[in-house]
Amino acid sequence: MNASSQYQSGFGNEFASEAIEGTLPQGQNSPQRVAHGLYAEQLSGTAFTAPRHANRRSWLYRIRPAAVHEPFQSLAHATFHNRFDEAPATPNQLRWNPWPLADKPTDFVDGLVTLAGNGGPAEQAGVGIHVYTANRSMQGRFFYDADGELLIVPQQGRLHLATELGLIDVEPQEIAVIPRGVRFRVELPDETARGYVCENFGALLRLPDLGPIGSNCLANARDFLTPQAAYEDVDGAFELVAKFQGALWSAKIDHSPLDVVAWHGNYAPYKYDLRRFNTIGSISYDHPDPSIFTVLTSPSDTPGTANVDLAIFPPRWLVAQHTFRPPWFHRNVASEFMGLITGVYDAKAEGFLPGGASLHNCMSGHGPDAATFERASNAELSKPDEIGGTMAFMFETRKVIRPTRQALDSPQLQDNYHECWKGIGKHFDAGREA
Ligand SMILES: [Fe+2]
Repeated sequence: MNASSQYQSGFGNEFASEAIEGTLPQGQNSPQRVAHGLYAEQLSGTAFTAPRHANRRSWLYRIRPAAVHEPFQSLAHATFHNRFDEAPATPNQLRWNPWPLADKPTDFVDGLVTLAGNGGPAEQAGVGIHVYTANRSMQGRFFYDADGELLIVPQQGRLHLATELGLIDVEPQEIAVIPRGVRFRVELPDETARGYVCENFGALLRLPDLGPIGSNCLANARDFLTPQAAYEDVDGAFELVAKFQGALWSAKIDHSPLDVVAWHGNYAPYKYDLRRFNTIGSISYDHPDPSIFTVLTSPSDTPGTANVDLAIFPPRWLVAQHTFRPPWFHRNVASEFMGLITGVYDAKAEGFLPGGASLHNCMSGHGPDAATFERASNAELSKPDEIGGTMAFMFETRKVIRPTRQALDSPQLQDNYHECWKGIGKHFDAGREA
């Protein structure tokens, strides 16, 4: 399957795809008999009565309905959960070194480690923030998350995502979103994989409104890719793992659930190449709020206040004059979890590494470290600065992000992060002009 035929382009479109031509019913969704002896099944991603612009559902035409499997049994997982009340939420600035790769056989589900989160699946708001490390493909098992959609941010190694609705290949600097409930298997084309996952319990991620920016820029809809239908007709002894209300469940299933021969609708997985982001910034003085870097947003009940935003800090030119060019010192009513996919982040001289993470919670002061402040305060501004070869991202949430016990106790947590601001001295002189 080549790249051009593997995907359909657009965001939230009414897609239609069939692996066997002539499978999709014409003029109705659920005829008395579906072509090729398939079953028709609707997958609803929003309430039946959600407003039309936000309504998401797809019709799947499959070899067996999703109901066909043995009962679920509880499945223990030591590190993947939604317990965000284990430790006091902290106003301290936190930073973690890159999560180590597993030394024993570990697939994508095994290798999920929950770092932090807020809200939960019961209240259908908030996020779980996880890292994954893996060194082998999921073998004989499939996974779905009933608690939220999964925004996967690979940092090292490619992923091949075999989903009910088709095949997605992602690599670092691309993202993939697997909607709530969609069953999938993660395969590793490379020896190892590591990355981040935002489990979004709230409203589905969507493109932000652009306001005065106009009808183009930031993430353009045509760059989002949804797979074409691809199915497996395989019987065997398999495992279906479900995440349901913060815990994992396992059921035996005697066939591959990736058996959708054709589908149509607007509820489907997708990928996006972050390098396609059309970055907007100041061409006069100062720089805009980092919301200008929003790729996707999950709105909350309060207009303009997201449940979670995905923002990125991609390569770009800094040209503003009379300006402190790096991100400034700030305190934010929202809470900010950051990760680094590659390169160097322009507000930190050292210590924030690819595969690492930082957390700056509601109203916790942060900003450039002492070395960055000194450099940028004295920089020659007649020439532009090129921020190249980097890709950082932020999950920004309206609710405080609560680290898990395992994240706070991990050896990856840096105990000296606060010292990066220690060298910021007092320069105040009432007689000095600037
Ligand atoms: Fe910040």
